Amino acid sequence: LADVVPMAPEDPLFGLMAAYRKDKSEKKVDLGIGAYRDNDAKPWVLPVVKKADDILHNDPEINHEYLPIAGLQAFTSASQKLVLGPDSPAIKENRVCSLQTISGTGAVHLGALFLRKFYNKQNNPTVYFSSPTWANHNQIFTNVNLPIKSYPYFSPTTKGLNFEGMIDAIESAPERSIILLHACAHNPTGVDPTQDQWKEIASMIHSKNHFPFFDCAYQGFASGDLSKDAWAIRYFVEQGFELCIAQSYAKNFGLYGERAGCFHFVTSPAHDASHTAERIRSQLAILQRSEISNPPAYGARIAATVLNDDELFAEWEDNLRTMSGRIMDMRKALREKLEEMGTPGTWNHITDQIGMFSFTGLSEKQVLRIREESHVYMTKNGRISMAGLNTHNVDYFAKAVDKVVRE
Ligand code: LMR
Repeated sequence: LADVVPMAPEDPLFGLMAAYRKDKSEKKVDLGIGAYRDNDAKPWVLPVVKKADDILHNDPEINHEYLPIAGLQAFTSASQKLVLGPDSPAIKENRVCSLQTISGTGAVHLGALFLRKFYNKQNNPTVYFSSPTWANHNQIFTNVNLPIKSYPYFSPTTKGLNFEGMIDAIESAPERSIILLHACAHNPTGVDPTQDQWKEIASMIHSKNHFPFFDCAYQGFASGDLSKDAWAIRYFVEQGFELCIAQSYAKNFGLYGERAGCFHFVTSPAHDASHTAERIRSQLAILQRSEISNPPAYGARIAATVLNDDELFAEWEDNLRTMSGRIMDMRKALREKLEEMGTPGTWNHITDQIGMFSFTGLSEKQVLRIREESHVYMTKNGRISMAGLNTHNVDYFAKAVDKVVRE
């Protein structure tokens, strides 16, 4: 066997992180992985997470027993309310099956496995992603043998949404395809549809009988408002779609390494709600058991402690505003500096785009030059993690961009 296993390429994002760590330059700037940093480029433990940590630390009831297969119930039920809204009819009608997962990646994977096993099997359905999308989508769906294709999303000329291209591709996809959508703060572009555009997307998906699959990794990070960031999902649920959602707590709780996430399958109101949900839940439990047995407890306990307490929840919202606010300040500062220097090109997209990332429009060649000459690390597609910028390095980065753009 060993002879036939070829060498796989290094993961581009984690490879970039390793290259950054190795770089000895004092000027180095990390704009690679999407993880929040404070104004001193340090990881930030949310103050509300510290509080929850203390509460758990002093709780004599906490032990290291297994969680149930579906995870911590206090966590999964709070997660449903967070993403669908506390008064969602789908929750009240018992139309939501939720399992705690290994963060958003695990949720996407569980959904992919489930769809592979049960969805439109006769026709070998294709999963459509935005072009570009989070690099991991591609391999997660490929690993479970679902064919993948992409729909246009980003317009390099406007550095905004190619809405017509997206709608046309959804229309041309064979009926009952799977359409993967980013709920908000699109990764890697930072470009989201408007609410009116979401309505048209929903209507096209409905008319083609496609299956919507939402990846929701940045709720609270796009606008700082949790409901606004879940608007698209809630709209689709209101329209009666059967759909699934992969929810991550990595970014909005800063629980990156704790792998807290949730998978939700929402059944349509057209079905006999509780029976359908029960069948789906039972199958998801089988898949979960064979993959991870049961999920890890710590991150879910932290999130559940906060989500189920009004005071801590309000404090969390405040922490979210601190993160999204600092990112917005950095967007403004970067754009202003580039415009002040008269850097060739337009830079309004830096402030128009939202969430953790900006798709700068820099070419791969320019990205590699910036890395070599200025020790700034970003992905080859020109994506920058805005959280890596701060008041100490934003001018330095703007000058590095200015230099390569003029060359
Ligand atoms: C990113 O895109 O930077 C993050 O979502 C981290 C990851 O796992 O890829």
